[in-house]
Amino acid sequence: MSAVASIILAAGQGKRMKSTLPKVLHPVAGIPMVSYSLELTGSLNLAKRIVVLGHQFERIKEAILSVDRKVLFVHQKEQLGTAHAVQAAEPYLTDFSGIILIISADVPLLKASTIQKIITHHQRAANSGTLLTARVKHPEGYGRIIRNAAGEVIQIVEEGDTLPEQRKVNEINSGIYCFNSKELFQALAQVKKDNSQKEYYLTDVIRILLEKGSSIGSITVDDPVEITGINDQQTLSQVSQLIYERNALAHMEEGVIVISPGNTFLEQRVQIGPGTIICPFTVITAGSQIGSGCQIGPYAHIVESKIGSQTRIFSSLVEKSRIGSNSDIGPFAHIRPESIICDEVKIGNFVEIKKTLVGEGTRVGHLTYLGDAVLGKQVNIGAGTITCNYDGVRKNRTTIEDGVFIGSNNALVAPVIIGKDSYTAAGSTITGNVPAQSLGIARAKQENITGWVSKKKKQNENKKIEK
Ligand code: UD1
Ligand code: CA
Repeated sequence: MSAVASIILAAGQGKRMKSTLPKVLHPVAGIPMVSYSLELTGSLNLAKRIVVLGHQFERIKEAILSVDRKVLFVHQKEQLGTAHAVQAAEPYLTDFSGIILIISADVPLLKASTIQKIITHHQRAANSGTLLTARVKHPEGYGRIIRNAAGEVIQIVEEGDTLPEQRKVNEINSGIYCFNSKELFQALAQVKKDNSQKEYYLTDVIRILLEKGSSIGSITVDDPVEITGINDQQTLSQVSQLIYERNALAHMEEGVIVISPGNTFLEQRVQIGPGTIICPFTVITAGSQIGSGCQIGPYAHIVESKIGSQTRIFSSLVEKSRIGSNSDIGPFAHIRPESIICDEVKIGNFVEIKKTLVGEGTRVGHLTYLGDAVLGKQVNIGAGTITCNYDGVRKNRTTIEDGVFIGSNNALVAPVIIGKDSYTAAGSTITGNVPAQSLGIARAKQENITGWVSKKKKQNENKKIEK
């Protein structure tokens, strides 16, 4: 088998997206568009993987390097068309002889199995070039595949250059091809920009190769949705929705209960145990892991977090944190990054937790902020407790040991340690450590003025008479 090198075309600005974000960095079902073609080519055993970038080169390169370091970057300084983009990669392939696989970065639904098929077909048929085509109901916006009476491909005509009868052709070019390297680069040198967009079209290579007697073949995808190219926001949203639904269905096959797949947003690389119920309007981002028998949502947003089993999370945001088993989170809780919530914990309404360890069996029921704190086991935090963790310069630690009972409406001024099994009185501002087994009380003593009301009334009546 010949060696295969891939070229991903990603230099275009994506004008039709009408966005300041480069097209290929737009999230598709939560992850940047370009990641799909990177993952796909990464899953194949390829001799070389090249990405052609242009518009916002550095920004996209950085984004790619954060997820994939095994690619070569080519800078297409001016975006003069898809043929020009492939040509920009030529200097990186001078020592390469084999098959060039070309993929656009805006086709995220493309499957690795389809790529395998086109490569195999290209080799078996000993073609100079092989196209991947699709038959669609709405060919608008795509290049049309023009065939002769014998059914052989004779050229690809771009939408803007079609004759009226060509416009009706419903077989389209997917923008995915295999070429023999030598013939490809020879043909590219002959491409001209004599077309409606004044661009160097890669699609012209087909006609050029045929004119010199080379063989061009094609295969057609079974499901045309697979080669949907994203050029505008509408298609982006449709493709994202489709991926989310597919992901939900894949989890359902493994025994996850998804109440409404159309209203559930599970990104790639999410693990969920069987018997877990995912309620509507839940977003779970790539890399999250959830155990079995949980109830997540409605309205849960889990960002890169790990959740144990039998845990419930309602209407809450959990970011880059770990939550144990048999715990209850929400409604309206915010677990901020680097928090660890152990087993059997209750985090209730309007509670914010940041960079905090919450020990087993601890309860934080209502209206509380815990930041930079370490809580032991079986702690009870009263409503309205606030850790005063920031002194304007640095973040300070609050330590609450096992079995502590913090009364309602406490301000715990860090650094501070509340010793094992101790209590703090409601309404206290705790500025010093509380020893184990003690009561910390830090509030003004209550005074009652008896008979105050009748005295006040009398004073008011006298004032009326004076008027
Ligand atoms: C292209 C094809 C069209 C096909 C469609 C499939 C051409 C001329 N047309 O059209 O036949 O039906 O894809 O989706 O090839 N790019 C560069 N450098 C450039 C121009 C584009 O790297 O100078 C990249 C883009 O970033 C994009 C890809 O090439 O990832 C395709 O470009 P795009 O402008 O989206 O082409 P289409 O008009 O969709
Ligand atoms: Ca496109």
